[in-house]
Amino acid sequence: MKFFVDTADTAEIRELAATGLLDGVTTNPTLIHKSGRKFLEVVEEICGLVDGPVSAEVVAMDHETMMKEAEVLRKIADNVCIKVPLTIDGLKTCKALTSDGTQVNVTLCFSANQALLAAKAGATFISPFVGRHDDNGFDGLALIEDIRQIYDNYAFGTEILAASLRHPIHVLDCAKIGADVITAPPAVIKMLSKHVLTDKGLEAFEADWAKTGQTIL
Ligand code: G3P
Repeated sequence: MKFFVDTADTAEIRELAATGLLDGVTTNPTLIHKSGRKFLEVVEEICGLVDGPVSAEVVAMDHETMMKEAEVLRKIADNVCIKVPLTIDGLKTCKALTSDGTQVNVTLCFSANQALLAAKAGATFISPFVGRHDDNGFDGLALIEDIRQIYDNYAFGTEILAASLRHPIHVLDCAKIGADVITAPPAVIKMLSKHVLTDKGLEAFEADWAKTGQTIL
């Protein structure tokens, strides 16, 4: 299972990349706004921090302009993955870009039928939004299960990139279902390493080690 971080905060990306556990980065216009930085400049910096795909989203609504924006974005670095919305124009753009060897992440997916279309358009990644699905009274994890089943039925190569994950249980459930990739905010990824009994056990070992009066180095 691949781990992407969902942020445009380069300090956070640098810190997580240093763990060796990070496989890629996802950004969106909201995260770029939150960073307060220039879009192209921040994407270029992120591409230098990780080897894996860095999703950079087009903002146009029509195919022709999406293609022009994608042209600018893909020139930034080899690991740029163009993010397009799940609309007919977005799917058309996905088909054109992937046919040309460019990685594409189809975003804002809220139904299994949408995911089916993205796979047929040759998407590298499909991004179903689990948390936003839940927020609106739907079952985000059931959506991941449905997409997994459909993609397996037809051996589609599109990777399921579970997005809009809000807490560690979302990550656990996505791993059990078999999502190929998860993307989550830095805080959620860091939370995965936490357990109260790990902290408690460590405290006890530290205290007892101090009592031995020994050192290793
Ligand atoms: O980047 C797409 C997705 O992960 C956004 O998450 O928390 O804004 O619903 P959220």
